[in-house]
Amino acid sequence: MCGIVGIVGNVPVAPLLVDALKRLEYRGYDSAGVATLETGGVLARRRAEGKLRNLEAKLAASPLGGLIGIGHTRWATHGAPTEANAHPHATDKVAVVHNGIIENFHQLKDELKAKGRVFASDTDTEVIAHLVTVELERGLSPVDAVGGVLKRLTGAFALAFLFPGHDNLLIGARRGSPLAVGHGQGEMYLGSDAIALAPFTDQVTYLEEGDWVVVTRQGATIRDENDTVVQRPMVVSAATAFMVDRGNYRHFMAKEIHEQPDVMGRTLGQYLDFGTGRTRLPALPFDWARLDGITMSACGTAFYAGLVAKYWFERFARLPVDIDIASEFRYRETPMKRGGLALFISQSGETADTLASLRYCRAQGQHIAAVVNVTTSTIARESDVVFPTLAGPEIGVASTKAFTCQLATLCALAVAAGRARGVLSDADEAKLVQALAEVPRLAAQALRLEVQIERLARRISKSQDVLYLGRGTSYPLALEGALKLKEISYIHAEGYAAGELKHGPIALIDEKMPVVVIAPHDRIFEKTVSNMQEVAARGGRIILMTDPKGAAEATISAVETIVLPEMPATVTPMIYAIPIQLLAYHAAVLMGTDVDQPRNLAKSVTVE
Ligand code: G6P
Repeated sequence: MCGIVGIVGNVPVAPLLVDALKRLEYRGYDSAGVATLETGGVLARRRAEGKLRNLEAKLAASPLGGLIGIGHTRWATHGAPTEANAHPHATDKVAVVHNGIIENFHQLKDELKAKGRVFASDTDTEVIAHLVTVELERGLSPVDAVGGVLKRLTGAFALAFLFPGHDNLLIGARRGSPLAVGHGQGEMYLGSDAIALAPFTDQVTYLEEGDWVVVTRQGATIRDENDTVVQRPMVVSAATAFMVDRGNYRHFMAKEIHEQPDVMGRTLGQYLDFGTGRTRLPALPFDWARLDGITMSACGTAFYAGLVAKYWFERFARLPVDIDIASEFRYRETPMKRGGLALFISQSGETADTLASLRYCRAQGQHIAAVVNVTTSTIARESDVVFPTLAGPEIGVASTKAFTCQLATLCALAVAAGRARGVLSDADEAKLVQALAEVPRLAAQALRLEVQIERLARRISKSQDVLYLGRGTSYPLALEGALKLKEISYIHAEGYAAGELKHGPIALIDEKMPVVVIAPHDRIFEKTVSNMQEVAARGGRIILMTDPKGAAEATISAVETIVLPEMPATVTPMIYAIPIQLLAYHAAVLMGTDVDQPRNLAKSVTVE
């Protein structure tokens, strides 16, 4: 959620901390702050409410010196996004930045208040600063003080500490939220991920669950949760290769939408051999043919990708899929037969609920597979087999290219499973691989509809509510369409299975309500047309996304039609996602919202 960075270096670190925070802003952007040790080891802080640019303005007006410091960009959990609640939180003895939640903070705060400690914020983080201070005042060293305090904290967190008077010491800790150590030349770093550290170093050590680390200019000493010194491998991070840049686009989201032909092609190329018409998967720790079903769990857009995949796995591989939102699944106590397959889908690979579901399934003796975009993530590292999506870094908070690359990967997996289970013949497999080979070309064609979609977005941007309808694999797309619009334009939208319309949402329909119908001309097209008739009969204004055949057959008045190219039914989710994303994007641009960083959201949700 929040982003953390720490640097112990040889040049003034405040500008470097801000540079790293820019790369972490996707994790939260309610407020930001930095703390450094200036001449004589004196702690100095600058914090600002709102986006990072407010902090930059403060630093420009009142710069910070110092060769060591920590920084933070916040997504508020405890306490409003005010300057007083912005990190770093500090006493005269320690400053701390924190990502996550300290669950027992009320109890700790009461205890500290009883000792006469006075609090300056409403955050859970500040109790950590006070707890460490109490230990330092008892005469403990910073390392012993932090080591003791960590044992008193419950919850999921990552932390970085800075100590006035100690200008060659940072301490980091990881429990539940990621933290990486960066190795430089006589300089060392801490960061929530390798992207934050990319400008400084590509030599990275990922802390493991429960680890904490003492960092000086000379190196890092890592201890595990039992305080035993441990060695963790140093890896060369690929993050430097993708310096994130908007190019000529106005927003990252626009750039990422337009990258889709390319990144879906790359992702499919990894799992399909277009020459032989065969699927190509990494070595698997399970046998598709022996599975009774798949359990899937994910959040947000990744959950909708899984919902589409359910149709594919059930149809192509005759494998029943039990899919749930991870925040529900993790507490549902689902009974599971040992040896089953649990599949997790996540762009970041850090989503707290998805990770907790993974660990539940691990404890239930399942094989763990993950479709992730960040292959160094916790979910990737805790999986038995990883199917990477090659979307590249996704910066826009609303997921676009990661979603379609998840679909591409899941479709390839479903075809491979179908072949392995003997449901699909060689010829069926070759036909599906051929269909998937068309995806980049079709996606490029879909992007050409942008001018028409931008015009339609004007109508959407004037609406208060929008309904999205679809059947089959277009039903999860309807859900995704509604989610995209809500996330970035703040217009209320709902996605529904078209057949469910008459069981409730039809009551909402009037002449003010646009209804976006996603209906390629497939085997259930006729049924969706009937549902459209029901909308039209009640004065609803329809935007139909279909193909030339569908457009010719949908003879309903009051329809505005977006005509996509003809394509095999299997690939429609990957292509119809594009006009849906463009519609939400242009509606949001017209409304003047912050498209890449919509209010209240964060890209990587590492809290419950
Ligand atoms: C957040 C993001 C969504 C994303 C969801 C799951 O809510 O704003 O775009 O779909 O988390 O994230 P994951 O990284 O697990 O795919």
